[in-house]
Amino acid sequence: MKFGTKAIHAGQEPDPSTGAIMTPIYQTSTYWQKSPGDNKGFEYSRGTNPTRKALESCLAALENANFGLAFSSGMGATDAVMKLLAPGDEVITGNDLYGGSYRIFTKIFANYGIKFHFIDMSDPNNVKNYINDHTKLIWIETPTNPTMQIVDIAAVGAIAKENNILLAVDNTFASPYLQNPIDLGADIVMHSVTKYLGGHSDVVMGALMLNDEDLYKRLWFIYNACGATPGPMDSFLVLRGLKTLHLRMKAHCENGRQIAEFLKTHPKVDKIYWPGFTDHPNHDIAKKQMRDFGGMISITLKGADLQETYRVASSFKVFTLAESLGGVESLINHPVSMTHGSIPKAERDKVGVTDNLLRLSVGVEDIEDLLDDLKQALS
Ligand SMILES: Cc1ncc(COP(=O)(O)O)c(C=O)c1O
Repeated sequence: MKFGTKAIHAGQEPDPSTGAIMTPIYQTSTYWQKSPGDNKGFEYSRGTNPTRKALESCLAALENANFGLAFSSGMGATDAVMKLLAPGDEVITGNDLYGGSYRIFTKIFANYGIKFHFIDMSDPNNVKNYINDHTKLIWIETPTNPTMQIVDIAAVGAIAKENNILLAVDNTFASPYLQNPIDLGADIVMHSVTKYLGGHSDVVMGALMLNDEDLYKRLWFIYNACGATPGPMDSFLVLRGLKTLHLRMKAHCENGRQIAEFLKTHPKVDKIYWPGFTDHPNHDIAKKQMRDFGGMISITLKGADLQETYRVASSFKVFTLAESLGGVESLINHPVSMTHGSIPKAERDKVGVTDNLLRLSVGVEDIEDLLDDLKQALS
């Protein structure tokens, strides 16, 4: 099945009891057992729920994976992956990450004796310098949030495999429409479903997709034992959102391309980060591993201090100043004071997350209105 067909149908059959086309919202915490253990495969909704099960099958299909697990947030999904580790284990990850990922690594899991190496992954061979007997996991984000660096998933995947290390990829920015890390050698794909997969800024959710059955069983145990699983209503909303993922992504990419080109020559813009430009440092890898370049763009404002950056960020009329990304509506974000505030300034400066950086999540509105809004906000 092709992508759009899977987005609409995977994991979903007409409801056997009524014929309803849409998977019902099974709003129940528990299930009848004829005698102890004699049930229809569902016992308690923390572990299993039919609406969530349909969603997990659809999510797995979109990433060409055997298994999907939905969590109550992207951070809940990341937390579950980290709980595969034990004190003394080491993780190699990028130096440009979503602030919440950096925070959970440094402020939660470092306290449990797990060591993190935050490194420049633009050259995959750099990963080899940090591998030792304790290395158990490589965690990649690509494109990175917010400077849109691209990591070569296949090259890091080969290094991980050679050294028997798990590779997890945060695929939130690309979405499965643009990139499928499992096909490139990843063991686990993580998504903040809150973003493109949900697509309508009305749900917070996370997911893991993977192929290996033993690993799935270990992660399912953590999912059920720790309990960060989403409810049936949120699962239904994401199933509904997924049905237009391919249509939305096409529009995000097309609007993103036009906006990136407009901003590239704008006199108020200093740097622009978008992997579709041929002069992006990892454009060739982006071209190889992604089907298009998406609607996420970051810019720095020429000569702007914090106050001027705040002024610009607050002067949009169609773009909304807000955290998050990937919804149908365009958002503007100031990473330093919003999504990346938990990363120390010295670390942010190293990768270019500066006071004058703004991140755009380009939505699917009419392009003329988005361009007019940028023109007036940057005037
Ligand atoms: C790249 C990336 N990964 C993970 C997360 C965390 O997901 P959630 O907010 O659903 O917990 C986010 C949230 O912004 C993100 O942008």
